[in-house]
Amino acid sequence: MEQLNTYLSKNKERFLDELLDLLRIPSVSADSKYKESVLKTAEFLKERLIEAGADNVEICPTVGYPIVYGDKLIDESLPTVLVYGHYDVQPPDPLELWDSPPFEPVIKDEKIYARGACDDKGQMYMHIKAFEAMMKNNILPCNIKFMIEGEEEVGSDNLGPFVNANKEKLKADVVLISDTSMLANDTPSLTTGLRGLCYMEVEVTGPNIDLHSGTFGGGVANPANVLCKMIASLHDENNRITIPGFYDDVLEISKEERAEMAKAPFSLDGYKKQLDINDIHGEKGYTTNERTSIRPTLDVNGMWSGYIGEGAKTVLPSKAYAKISMRLVPNQDSAKITELFQKHFESIAPASVKVKVMPHHGGEPVVTPTDSLAYQAAVRAMENTFGKRPIPVRGGGSIPIVALFEDVLGVKTILMGFGLDTDAIHSPNEHYGLFNFYKGIETIPHFYKEFAALS
Ligand code: BES
Ligand code: MN
Ligand code: MN
Repeated sequence: MEQLNTYLSKNKERFLDELLDLLRIPSVSADSKYKESVLKTAEFLKERLIEAGADNVEICPTVGYPIVYGDKLIDESLPTVLVYGHYDVQPPDPLELWDSPPFEPVIKDEKIYARGACDDKGQMYMHIKAFEAMMKNNILPCNIKFMIEGEEEVGSDNLGPFVNANKEKLKADVVLISDTSMLANDTPSLTTGLRGLCYMEVEVTGPNIDLHSGTFGGGVANPANVLCKMIASLHDENNRITIPGFYDDVLEISKEERAEMAKAPFSLDGYKKQLDINDIHGEKGYTTNERTSIRPTLDVNGMWSGYIGEGAKTVLPSKAYAKISMRLVPNQDSAKITELFQKHFESIAPASVKVKVMPHHGGEPVVTPTDSLAYQAAVRAMENTFGKRPIPVRGGGSIPIVALFEDVLGVKTILMGFGLDTDAIHSPNEHYGLFNFYKGIETIPHFYKEFAALS
């Protein structure tokens, strides 16, 4: 490992320059105006994988954006690690809130500022550089397969068919992903679960055209008013979700596990200060940490209706819309929750409006085992480079592929993320610490070494 550290410090600047080049390509999967850039990013990664020493590098087409694959299979008797990451990023909006343009990365206060810096280009690229370092120093102790997709931020719809059609190609002993966060730079942690996702769009229609709000106001249902009331009714006074059957499959956590969770450091004051809120909020009977990880939620992600331009226009809108997401926990099922939501939402609509419910993508919740050899290897790897044992933490976000890998390939995942919750992923001024980028590159080879030794 000594020679590896020498290699890392010698090539530090180049690793960073390459990441900055990657961040300059605006690979926004949600918006078709970036299509050329998304495709270019796949090409970019193909070249970098080849340079790093991967074989069989290819850009695998899907109905949507392609999947970049590459591997290094050194010995059948050695364990195989499947590295997953995503090269697509969230839209950069609202642009005016960025201190520097989202696709012109800058280094400020030891952090890289750009869309995708942390989620997931910066974290994914650590794996390619760690691989390069192991290859160039002839110390790769496992077989490696890379699978880097371009549609994670829009729900990975084409990944299921790809994984199903390529079971042999993707066969592995463990999946390794860096696309989550850790507690702090001096408090390493491993993510041991992710929430699922159920995403809906609703449309409420009142009169057939926008009306004068004086002439008609008071006599006709206003779909915006109605939608607000309907949405408000989805939580009760304890902030529990009112959809009948919603909690039926929720796996309650044991007292012991909750006590274990409560050991993770958390500062309520720091949390409130960081977000500039006067008070926290959430389901009665649960801590902030529990509310954002082991409990399901329902949130409006966007809402629009009527006149939102400059000044005032007196109008009674014809339509009102909202995008609503639900985060799911084990053992909830996104298809079942979709059905429950749809039925309930339609049932609470007054006769004065028409309601349409349109499901978007979903994803299943997961818990990843902490009693596996791979988990042990991840613990040892982090312990080695951070000098502290990582704390197991359940994550609140979603990565749909994790449940899919388990279902289709029967392979479990290690979520070894190096980001921080304060990295502003999906938000303006997303950033990733140089410390985190380099620490990841340093830690990953230790995982391979430990996993090979334990296997
Ligand atoms: N990397 C995130 C997921 C994440 C973030 C997990 C932080 C844990 C901590 C991923 O790119 C993401 O944003 N996923 C989406 C889901 C997807 C279906 C759009 C999410 O969680 O909203
Ligand atoms: Mn991500
Ligand atoms: Mn994301």
